[in-house]
Amino acid sequence: MLVTGRELLDDAQKNGYAVGAFNVNNMEIVQAIIEAAEETKSPVILQASQGGLKYAGVEYIAELAKIAARNASVPVAIHLDHGTDFNQIMKCIRYGFTSVMIDGSKYALEDNIAITKKVIEVASPVGVSVEAELGKIGGTEDDITVDEREATFTDPDEAAKFVEETGVDSLAIAIGTAHGPYKGEPKLDFDRLKTIRERIAIPIVLHGSSGVPEESLKKAISIGVSKINIDTDVRMAFAKGVTKVITGNPNEYDPRKILGPAKEEMRKAIAEKMIIFGSNGRA
Ligand code: G3H
Ligand code: 13P
Ligand code: ZN
Ligand code: NA
Repeated sequence: MLVTGRELLDDAQKNGYAVGAFNVNNMEIVQAIIEAAEETKSPVILQASQGGLKYAGVEYIAELAKIAARNASVPVAIHLDHGTDFNQIMKCIRYGFTSVMIDGSKYALEDNIAITKKVIEVASPVGVSVEAELGKIGGTEDDITVDEREATFTDPDEAAKFVEETGVDSLAIAIGTAHGPYKGEPKLDFDRLKTIRERIAIPIVLHGSSGVPEESLKKAISIGVSKINIDTDVRMAFAKGVTKVITGNPNEYDPRKILGPAKEEMRKAIAEKMIIFGSNGRA
């Protein structure tokens, strides 16, 4: 069934687990996520990035996700990941997304507050949840020093002010994760996470979570992370599945025989994450 992001995250926060938010670009990924969610009885979030919307189009993503959500035996939210454009956010809401992210993290605090409030003003009356970002979650390819990196982490005082002034539903924070695969093992600033948790009452979101070791994810959840974004690990499972077929049978030309095993690899990888997040058995 289709639900709002806030409904899922409130239950996760109350009960000490995290909901997985997985990026979708095509039918196979959507099906793999829903199959994993049903198998583990997990609530789940299907989310579309800027790249995903550009690749497939808002309409295709929205319709695929809505068909999946309506037919699923578990609660499913449809979320815009890293929204930056007000008009695109409006379009996503119009097409049935039940949650949107407004990523104003590149702006100064006051400007980030202002654009987040503008989105909440239109999303809240129609029951769409809003996620914002404070601090900068970079990419693993970003060439910056440790000091520079720490300067991008979320400031707990700013987080308290941001939440108070915007009334946002959930907040993505920067504590050392990065989008994409990691070169070494990511070091997360758990003390900072603890302080932020003490200062704000709303659900906290962790981006860049592919490649973060299981123990770190579990620790982050125990401190108070309620939504975990995963993209890269699912892409890697997809590539593993396709590569296996193509190398084992270079003459294979049937998309179903190439993408079917890839879907299976993604389903397994996603189900494993759901068990780490403790969302299994919550739906
Ligand atoms: O937010 C990061 C996601 O991994 C999206 O990446 O824009 O290439 O789809 P993408
Ligand atoms: P990863 O690709 O590192 O899993 O990050 C995903 C993400 O944060 C999407 O918003
Ligand atoms: Zn992200
Ligand atoms: Na990552």
